[in-house]
Amino acid sequence: MSHASATAAPVREAALRRRSRSRVNDESPTRAELLELVTAAGTVADHSGLRPWRLIELRGDDRLTVGRALAKACGARGDKADRGARRLLRAPLVIAVVSSPRSSSKVPEWEQESVTSGVAHLLSLLLDEAGWGVFWRTGSHTRDKKVAKAHKLSKNEKLLGWLYVGGSNEADRKPRKLIDAADFIGGL
Ligand SMILES: Cc1cc2nc3c(=O)[nH]c(=O)nc-3n(C[C@H](O)[C@H](O)[C@H](O)COP(=O)(O)O)c2cc1C
Repeated sequence: MSHASATAAPVREAALRRRSRSRVNDESPTRAELLELVTAAGTVADHSGLRPWRLIELRGDDRLTVGRALAKACGARGDKADRGARRLLRAPLVIAVVSSPRSSSKVPEWEQESVTSGVAHLLSLLLDEAGWGVFWRTGSHTRDKKVAKAHKLSKNEKLLGWLYVGGSNEADRKPRKLIDAADFIGGL
């Protein structure tokens, strides 16, 4: 096995380049492209292979349905609720990330949510690498009942937020300040 830094490392390079993009344009990946990327994201480590997650692809007015529920959950009414709902229109594609825990005596729910989170992180990286802008958003009402209902979640399912996806300009990519890894990995 050769030393990591001596070989091409496309995954590491993609990770080092990734940036969240809060502003995106109206272009978006096709469903076919999305399916390819989700297939790749679905390779994350998954205790017992439970696949305890699913994604909801929100385009067009479906974004407003969710936006209205979020605005209502925040207590907004009338014009304020309409303005709030339109926040979901910030990207042409919004992907709701859903943890769908399976019944398991071996794998607790927190492990299953970790898998869902892993899928969302890997999908974000894959979309970024493919040239799309991605921004993972949540908010204090992410797990409100009205919001769950708008997504038609079943009782045990929980949202982990939304990936806002759209076209982005390579020139907008801000350089990242890297962490000092030694601060984050030590011994006992
Ligand atoms: C689970 C999760 C939820 C997030 N929710 C929000 C959010 O609601 N609003 C926000 O400004 N950033 C949110 N972020 C952070 C951004 O997605 C993004 O990571 C951050 O702006 C840093 O940018 P970077 O990814 O380029 O380092 C969230 C990140 C994660 C992982």
